Amino acid sequence: MVLQPLKALVAQLSTQPIIFVGGKGGVGKTTTAAALASYFASQGRKTLIVSTDPAHSLGDVLNTRLSNEKTVLNPYLDAIELNPDIIVDAHFAQVERTIKGYANPDMMPKIREHLRLSKSAPGAQEAAMLESMCQHLVTAADGGYEHIIFDTAPTGHTLRLLVLPEMMGAWTDGLLAQQRRQAKLRSIATHLDTNSRHTDKKGVPNPFAKHTPDRWAQAVNVLEQRKELFRQAGLLLHDRVQTAIILVMTADILPLAETKRAIEQLEENNLTPAAIVVNQLINPAQTDPFWQQRADRQQQLMNDIERNFSNYPIYPVYLQQTDIRGTEALSKLFTPTV
Ligand SMILES: Nc1ncnc2c1ncn2[C@@H]1O[C@H](COP(=O)(O)OP(=O)(O)OP(=O)(O)O)[C@@H](O)[C@H]1O
Ligand SMILES: [Mg+2]
Repeated sequence: MVLQPLKALVAQLSTQPIIFVGGKGGVGKTTTAAALASYFASQGRKTLIVSTDPAHSLGDVLNTRLSNEKTVLNPYLDAIELNPDIIVDAHFAQVERTIKGYANPDMMPKIREHLRLSKSAPGAQEAAMLESMCQHLVTAADGGYEHIIFDTAPTGHTLRLLVLPEMMGAWTDGLLAQQRRQAKLRSIATHLDTNSRHTDKKGVPNPFAKHTPDRWAQAVNVLEQRKELFRQAGLLLHDRVQTAIILVMTADILPLAETKRAIEQLEENNLTPAAIVVNQLINPAQTDPFWQQRADRQQQLMNDIERNFSNYPIYPVYLQQTDIRGTEALSKLFTPTV
């Protein structure tokens, strides 16, 4: 029997700075993530909670308005809802600045048009969100946070976020190789045309001509930095000492099937969940026959859940009378009286 009281979850996670909360739609990811963050903060542990779900509800659960910038909720708790539109705009503005560094100015209107269209290309928002997520991940320790908790969108999205750093790293590698080849060709061309590089047509020295290769180096530098960011994030995500992946589910057939698939996909990528939270359980002692039947059905499914996930600690969470809103109510979810 691997069922554990919920307060044991915070004890299990207390030494793990990075926590991802994933699972099927509507099972209680945001509630669990916000409850963990509120609890750690209530214990005086500086915590940052980041929602990567474009359909945000973290602000609603925390009873406050959040944005793409950090909002201070109390001295120990900051929260962010990553906004894909803002992040994509900032990302493409940065790409444009980089390209401007080495592209022929006549080409810029075409390039700008291409970038404008790329903003709505499939995967663009995901890539930009991922970069932002990785930035928060690698800078959290410097920001003085003891925990950074990610409230994610339904399962598929979470899994992609977790495995994307490696894919993006490989993709950036490809771009860098291409840049290097082009840089080599440029340097040969420049070498053949040494006069035009150092002097103008009348032979007047032009020391500014050497700015082009510098800008080129700058562009490569941006890519190198991005690659390094993905490398570091990938290392952190795969480090079981630092990162915990929590899968939330309800005691229902579809969430059970989806959680099984999620674990398989995580394992294919050398990742493993640290714990499974089974949420919205109905108290087994019911007087009403309808609720009694539902509670009995859940108990049967709990047996399946325990059998299927015998390798992982499972934490049951009972359905509360009302939605759990605000840091105080959320953090109480982990106290033994609930
Ligand atoms: N243990 C619980 N007791 C009572 N209400 C709960 C409990 N867990 C979650 N809820 C309620 O269920 C609804 C869905 O929860 P939540 O938003 O946390 O799920 P989610 O997995 O983040 O959903 P989404 O996939 O839409 O992001 C919310 O209204 C929440 O308040
Ligand atoms: Mg949610």
